[in-house]
Amino acid sequence: MTTHRIALIPGDGIGQEVTPAACAILDTVGKRHGYELTYDTFDWSCARYRNVGAMMPGDGLDQIRHHDAIFLGAVGDPAVPDHVSLWGLLIPIRRQFQQYVNLRPIRVFDGVPSPVRAATSEVDFVVVRENVEGEYSEIGGRMNRGFPSEMAVQEAVFTRAGVTRIVDYAFTLAQGRRQHVTSATKSNGIVHTMPFWDEVVAERAGGFPDIAWTQEHIDALCAKVVLDPARFDVFVASNLFGDILSDLAAAVAGSIGMAPAANLNPERDFPSMFEPVHGSAPDIAGQGVANPVGAVWTGAMMLRHLGHTEAADEIEQAIASVFAKTNLRTRDLGGTATTAQFVDALLDILP
Ligand code: NAI
Ligand code: MG
Repeated sequence: MTTHRIALIPGDGIGQEVTPAACAILDTVGKRHGYELTYDTFDWSCARYRNVGAMMPGDGLDQIRHHDAIFLGAVGDPAVPDHVSLWGLLIPIRRQFQQYVNLRPIRVFDGVPSPVRAATSEVDFVVVRENVEGEYSEIGGRMNRGFPSEMAVQEAVFTRAGVTRIVDYAFTLAQGRRQHVTSATKSNGIVHTMPFWDEVVAERAGGFPDIAWTQEHIDALCAKVVLDPARFDVFVASNLFGDILSDLAAAVAGSIGMAPAANLNPERDFPSMFEPVHGSAPDIAGQGVANPVGAVWTGAMMLRHLGHTEAADEIEQAIASVFAKTNLRTRDLGGTATTAQFVDALLDILP
């Protein structure tokens, strides 16, 4: 029996509902696959911020630095500005732990209605998003607040090392998939950073002669993801473009509640963090109706990272089977199933 220590941060809203759901699945599957997860639970959240004025304690990162992985539900509260929850918790974890790859797989499952007519079960792609630099930068400032001359400046930061490692990750990932990479750019309008991005992509692509690749402007690319999502395999994108692209793609797949994500430190110098794409969903929080698939699938990604590939495959297969073989759907997919009913269906279908 292998034991993995998981830092569990349920967070706010439906984060509190989908993380126990996912842990129930991971623990059940573990009994058959020879691993055990032990959880240290942290109350880091907007709720904590409202009580004590900080999302996490000052030494928070040191408390989780030696865990094998971090599993996070969602953070966000209508009474707390979103930049507080992001810059007070998620971004420090991503940056201090050098989680420079944000991996967001998207699949359309048989039996799940997509709002997009062209989306079929052939849709199976991954967004590889740069996670620690780019447009999400602290460089810049505001001047002349409150005057007619008020202004704000924010600099995007693209480094050769940062672009190189994310592009290499995407091309390597494509080797084990359908050998195709699409790079998101906007070098027609953003004339310094994006041509630099394009140059590095072209240079690195030269080292992967087996991979076909294209680059597309992000605006046109969004249209193509809606019109013909099945043609894509691996996307590589900057922090901002990858964020937008993956939410769009999650909606194409039926619901943002289905989409998983991993923040990876590929060198394993630090723990990686696993969190569904969705937020705390205050509009449905506390009702027990959240779709648990995003969190459960995120859990499967964590298992894959910890070396339990078969267990991860089994969970992903079970998700597909519940959609293919039952009519059980949560409210975001037009059904009436509760989170608990969906989790029970997954547990029933798991071998
Ligand atoms: P959201 O993802 O929380 O909700 C958007 C819509 O999708 C809502 O109508 C919600 O009910 C629905 N939805 C999301 N996940 C669902 C699920 N699992 N099952 C069923 N329906 C689901 O995004 P929103 O409303 O923009 O943000 C709410 C809060 O969450 C904000 O404070 C925001 O900052 C935070 N947030 C946190 C994230 C994180 O922790 N990584 C990511 C995105 C937003
Ligand atoms: Mg987003």
